[in-house]
Amino acid sequence: MSATYELRGDVAVVTLNNPPVNGLGHETRKAFAAGIERAQGDAAVRAIVITGAGKAFSGGADIREFGSPKALAEPNLLSLIKLLEDCDKPVVAAIHSVCMGGGLELSLGAHYRVAAPGANVALPEVKIGLVPGAGGTQRLPRVLGVETALNMIVSGEPVKSELLASLPGQKLFDRLIDGDLLDGAVAFAREVADRRPLPRVRDLKCAHPQGDAYFQFARNTVKAMARHFPAPARCVDCVEQSTKTKFDDGMVYERSAFLALMSTPECKALRHAFFGERAASKIPDVPDDTPVREVRKVAVIGAGTMGGGISMNFLNAGIPVTIVETKAEALERGVGVVRKNYEAQVKKGKLAQDKYEQRMALLTTTLAYDDVRDADLVIEAVFEDIGVKEQVFRQLDAVAKPGAILASNTSTLDLDRIAAFTQRPQDVVGMHFFSPANVMKLLEVVRGAKTAKDVLATVMAVGKKIKKTAVVSGVCDGFIGNRMVEQYIRQALFMLEEGATPTQIDKAIEKFGFAMGPFRMSDLAGNDIGWAIRKRRYVEKPQIRYSRVADRLCEQGRFGQKTGAGWYDYRPGRRDAIPSPLVEQMIADHRKELGVPPRQLGDDEVVQRLVFALVNEGAKILEEGIASKASDIDMVYLTGYGFPLHRGGPMCYADTFGLFNVVQAMKRFAKNPHDDAAFWQPAPLLTRLVAESRTLT
Ligand code: NAI
Repeated sequence: MSATYELRGDVAVVTLNNPPVNGLGHETRKAFAAGIERAQGDAAVRAIVITGAGKAFSGGADIREFGSPKALAEPNLLSLIKLLEDCDKPVVAAIHSVCMGGGLELSLGAHYRVAAPGANVALPEVKIGLVPGAGGTQRLPRVLGVETALNMIVSGEPVKSELLASLPGQKLFDRLIDGDLLDGAVAFAREVADRRPLPRVRDLKCAHPQGDAYFQFARNTVKAMARHFPAPARCVDCVEQSTKTKFDDGMVYERSAFLALMSTPECKALRHAFFGERAASKIPDVPDDTPVREVRKVAVIGAGTMGGGISMNFLNAGIPVTIVETKAEALERGVGVVRKNYEAQVKKGKLAQDKYEQRMALLTTTLAYDDVRDADLVIEAVFEDIGVKEQVFRQLDAVAKPGAILASNTSTLDLDRIAAFTQRPQDVVGMHFFSPANVMKLLEVVRGAKTAKDVLATVMAVGKKIKKTAVVSGVCDGFIGNRMVEQYIRQALFMLEEGATPTQIDKAIEKFGFAMGPFRMSDLAGNDIGWAIRKRRYVEKPQIRYSRVADRLCEQGRFGQKTGAGWYDYRPGRRDAIPSPLVEQMIADHRKELGVPPRQLGDDEVVQRLVFALVNEGAKILEEGIASKASDIDMVYLTGYGFPLHRGGPMCYADTFGLFNVVQAMKRFAKNPHDDAAFWQPAPLLTRLVAESRTLT
């Protein structure tokens, strides 16, 4: 039963019961409405309490219904709210734990609200590109005042019930109940049972003393904060309406804003990312109830750039870490970096001193492999060299306890080869962190041919625990993210050869919304990394055309920020990229040697060649089963590569652009004599989807 009915003497209790968070799906709404009607029809009932079972009052709309006709089927949320508001017996909402979105809007239809302390109260619709759609923008300002309500609606962030209850003049909560919430709510319902008229939020006055100035200020603030997203500004408009028009007109205004936003590409992108994040943890052939191994102790092998950051993730989650190194100096240097990172956080007030000390106390270091004996999870982050990896994995195989998970952070090596260095390939998995590993959200979980299902399930759970977005990738060169980025960089270099400058290319893609263009990104990561990969790749596969212009840059020792010069110049201690006349000359010389007449490339061409290079490789990755769904690819790009969130990731963007149009553009690019026709051969999956009028996501 998705809502239950119970009598407590003369008070009826209607309880939402749709685990995990009492989402207001159609069945739940029907059962809830039936409960309210039953209470109304029972002459012995004097008042009604509504509440939620388990871990929430209500988390709002049922996301499983999102976008389907069921979401609007009667009784819809607006009808339920009206049912409460029109009820001739007092309705008291008893709020606890989680009261969000449609859940909060429902409670605002009740005549009274009581709350337990500690409840998270929010209207988070803005996070999926919407305004609240069931009166939230009209009712919340009436009970909390314009400014508090607008802050909540524009940020979508939860606020604790006790904080809201303490605001002077607030009318959201009639009482905060410390003991048993339901007992308190029933007692409150009896107190108010005979009071008439029944108070309705819609009848409250709503105004701001300096309305025009305040809303102008709010508009400017959200414009600066949410450049690419239309919803925050629409939230301001809706709340302004609550102060300027009659309640019913405000509701119509909110509805039309909600519906208009629903069909914007930004809203589509945010919803895609929201569902993509949840979908990433689902692996088609690994059931949700797969038992997981316990991970109470972690060992990290190697205290270099990655090892320290990886360790911090676990220390932050309260899990003890032992770092193993070959030399004491390397250990000292690695631990020094961890300490420095934490100290910087303490200095900025982001981490309390005692928390910092607790975290450092969880860290031990050793030069002896024997000390990983009791680790449940070992993560290797040593030099990217198959010989070194072999040595490490053979030693781990000898000392690690049975059932320990052996993970490698390799970014380019074959995980199946690494697994074969052990007698337990089923326990070997890739955990590919991104630099800086304590900051970047993305974790590619690399599934080897023999990786056991419970190992995968465990690593995905660990990813969640350390607050990463974990995405599963099959084994291939570069996995999902770097395999795609290689094509993106290849295109960027071709465009240099044709007449573009690093600054023009970076600016164009940054205007599209990328955090950083390909050349600034390469300078940050180190141009020597790509150089090493190219030396290997294009010696093995000389038939692949690539531009040597980046090699020329590296031959001059311009490795990027770390050498003070790369595609750009850098002043000591600064990260601003300054266009380099030397590099531009080098590119011009290179172009001349190739005999390519320079031409002006438009920003649209730059953006399309970069993004569609990602799309084409992404489609191949999908077809090969390296990624199990298009949204996984998008999550990799949104969380690890600075792809603009408002575009939803490369695959989502391709769908929005239209796959037919994407393929047409590829065919156009293939005709360019200085580009690479083979590069722009559309992936068979794209051609097939276009023929079938289907989409990637
Ligand atoms: P690094 O060169 O900064 O650190 C490697 C560390 O491993 C050094 O401190 C070295 O002393 C230690 N080491 C070498 N052999 C060892 C052994 N047998 N036992 C214990 N320690 C040993 O390298 P980095 O950048 O941290 O990379 C490590 C791994 O992470 C590589 O596989 C790399 O491909 C991967 N990776 C690197 C990323 C990056 O941005 N640097 C990003 C993602 C993955």
